Amino acid sequence: MIITHLFFLLSALSRFESVPNALCKTKESEIGDFTNLVLATFYLPTHCLRDNPKPAVGPVRGAPEFTIHGLWPGRTADDWPQCCSPESIHRASQLRNVTDLVKYWVSTKGSDDKLWAHEWEKHGTCGMNLFRTENAYFNATVELLKRIQLDRILYKYGIQPSSKEYSNQLVSSIFNRALHYKPILECSTINQTSYLSGLYVCLDVLWPYDVVACPSDYYISKQNNCPDKFRIPPYPSSCFRS
Ligand SMILES: *[C@@H]1O[C@H](CO)[C@@H](O)[C@H](O)[C@H]1NC(C)=O
Ligand SMILES: *[C@@H]1O[C@H](CO)[C@@H](O)[C@H](O)[C@H]1NC(C)=O
Ligand SMILES: *[C@@H]1O[C@H](CO)[C@@H](O)[C@H](O)[C@H]1NC(C)=O
Repeated sequence: MIITHLFFLLSALSRFESVPNALCKTKESEIGDFTNLVLATFYLPTHCLRDNPKPAVGPVRGAPEFTIHGLWPGRTADDWPQCCSPESIHRASQLRNVTDLVKYWVSTKGSDDKLWAHEWEKHGTCGMNLFRTENAYFNATVELLKRIQLDRILYKYGIQPSSKEYSNQLVSSIFNRALHYKPILECSTINQTSYLSGLYVCLDVLWPYDVVACPSDYYISKQNNCPDKFRIPPYPSSCFRS
């Protein structure tokens, strides 16, 4: 009896693993059809303030403030390939040996696994000419964020997460100086106050994936929406997962 149940459970699981997921039902774009990569980051303390994650969700202690949203193959701000290989479904087993994954790539909304599946299946599969496997895509993305060190840039120029307001011009010029290109800064409004919620960095499509200028339409896109002044808050301690 138990054996039979186990058998059905296992065959149900393996069937689940081999069907295309709900996100990418059909192939929408071609692998490799893009001209830049966008390292999309969250300024995660703001997501904590906005999402109030449940105890099992959110950052681990020691997480940087800027964490990964995804690495997106793109052409312009509103033109990117997606769902390039519906058969290449997310497998948690592919990510087991990616160092620091949970420190650098977390969700404040639901399980990390759901975020990872979404990023890989929708965006990562389109970059399979560069990162052939899910393991390579996640590893490379974590390495890229570690290399760019967005948190250190803020600290180096004297910005500590706090309840202070900073001018958009100051924050932009700091990142501009450190990265050599103007970043795309995204803000969220919570209780009528603006908070930094994300930063987008455009990268070359060739190794070593240097920072490059973003396509110009990014600067007028809905992502680049920070007002003249906004806050850069610290992590609320209630945010860390227990
Ligand atoms: C926004 O307002 C709600 C209701 O007063 C409050 O519970 C919440 O803590 C506030 N959030 C922030 C980030 O100020
Ligand atoms: C990590 O795991 C993946 C998937 O099992 C494997 O393909 C890859 O070779 C491993 N990498 C290292 C450095 O062990
Ligand atoms: C990730 O990539 C780096 C640099 O390419 C490599 O040194 C490291 O072994 C990789 N780690 C895993 C877990 O695949």
